[in-house]
Amino acid sequence: MEFSINLTSPEKAQADCLVLPIAGKKLPTALAKLDEAGQGWISALLASGELAEKSGSTLATHLPIGNKPQKIVLVQVDKDVNAAASRKLADTIAKVLVGGKSISAAVWLGGIRGVDAGALTHAITQSIVAESYRFTAFKSEPDPAPLLAQIAYIVAKKSDVDTAEAGLARGLAVGHGVNFARELGNLPGNACTPTYLADEAVKLARHYGIKADVLEAADMEKLGMGSLLSVAKGSVQPPKLITLEYRGGAKSAKPIALVGKGITFDSGGISLKPGEGMDEMKYDMGGAAAVLGTFRALAELGLPINVVGVIPTCENMPAGNASKPGDVVKSMSGQTIEILNTDAEGRLILCDALTYTAKFEPEVVIDLATLTGACIIALGHVASGLYANNDALADELLAAADESGDKAWRMPLWDDYQEQLKSNFADVANIGGRPAGSVTAACFLARFTKDYTWAHLDIAGTAWKSGAAKGATGRPVPLLVEYLAQRAAKKAKK
Ligand code: BES
Ligand code: MN
Ligand code: ZN
Repeated sequence: MEFSINLTSPEKAQADCLVLPIAGKKLPTALAKLDEAGQGWISALLASGELAEKSGSTLATHLPIGNKPQKIVLVQVDKDVNAAASRKLADTIAKVLVGGKSISAAVWLGGIRGVDAGALTHAITQSIVAESYRFTAFKSEPDPAPLLAQIAYIVAKKSDVDTAEAGLARGLAVGHGVNFARELGNLPGNACTPTYLADEAVKLARHYGIKADVLEAADMEKLGMGSLLSVAKGSVQPPKLITLEYRGGAKSAKPIALVGKGITFDSGGISLKPGEGMDEMKYDMGGAAAVLGTFRALAELGLPINVVGVIPTCENMPAGNASKPGDVVKSMSGQTIEILNTDAEGRLILCDALTYTAKFEPEVVIDLATLTGACIIALGHVASGLYANNDALADELLAAADESGDKAWRMPLWDDYQEQLKSNFADVANIGGRPAGSVTAACFLARFTKDYTWAHLDIAGTAWKSGAAKGATGRPVPLLVEYLAQRAAKKAKK
């Protein structure tokens, strides 16, 4: 797919399909010549009320412009478009174009007020890239690929070109990162194993000149990662601890660390999950996928910051040698853990990964994990649960969530909840009972992140969709890329 920014008049655009976002019923003056070429049909259509007044309404038709029927798509927009509305508009345009028969399209941005050209090219490009994604790996007859191949954005003035280009680059990078994360998520557990994830990470790293390192079980043993290994041991698939180091910033600048839960299949272990819907536990590596997707976007954009990725990955399976409820294990931090439920395995692999992450002397650590069903009860499939031991970091992440539309909502980490994790037989229990299940999981992690500034995103409700639209979403890649881009911009200002 080819995208371009075009500083031309709409009547001169050469494309199979012309997309014209317009507010209200009146023909914008910038379209007067195009309307003339179309014998006044655009203004007549607008006046007729055929295009519904509700924003997002579309009207597709062909008009005799030049010597051929020209496809025109009118899209109703608000007089003043805000960020959220621009993303909705982007989705509408993407659905029309990707689902349509046009090979080339021109999207006129001159009729949209309230958001700048960069925000528009970012949103529309990201939507088109995401809308074009198909899962084809195991389909003998895959859904046909979209015909759409060329998209030109028509901007109104010269001063819009640079911002539109920057937005386009961001939209492409986020779209590619999102789709990469979705593909890894959608792959079944027998294809996307810990070894596969490690291979993909190394491939990505090679392609972009990022440093990659993969630790094996024996290495973890030496590091004292008894908690991570206790989850992995019931599976015939060997665990991996993947680290990526992206160095785009100053040598002396401390990195941001992203830590992603990479359970490539979560059966629950000996505390076996019920059968219904268990297939969806192939998505339990959504945190890992988001780290890799974010790295892809980061590298594509070449952001001038340092970022470290840490991915503990293994399967959680029942077996004769699997961990049992009541087992006590020793984490890398030295804290002992009573495993009261082997299905609370995410925190068991994350705690060792979080302890390990300290060696990178990170400025900030953010972990991403499909951690608890309880988070879905709390926030549904709309927002990721955000926890942080630092208010400034929480605010920055909330701002990035808001800006990207990849919603998050802050949850409490109060020490009052730590009571629920008391164990009679070890330093801490791995479950805190039914009340506030997402909070107590975060509180468990908080015991391992005291030495640095840390946030945790529980993405159990947001990493994938169930039902007819079953599939990975690629969240929270948009949030993370936005956050990193904001960090990079702030650094540049200082
Ligand atoms: N991967 C699951 C969390 C999950 C469940 C995500 C359903 C999305 C949908 C996690 O490993 C898990 O099993 N958590 C348990 C914790 C409980 C045993 C304290 C849960 O949420 O039930
Ligand atoms: Mn589990
Ligand atoms: Zn899990």
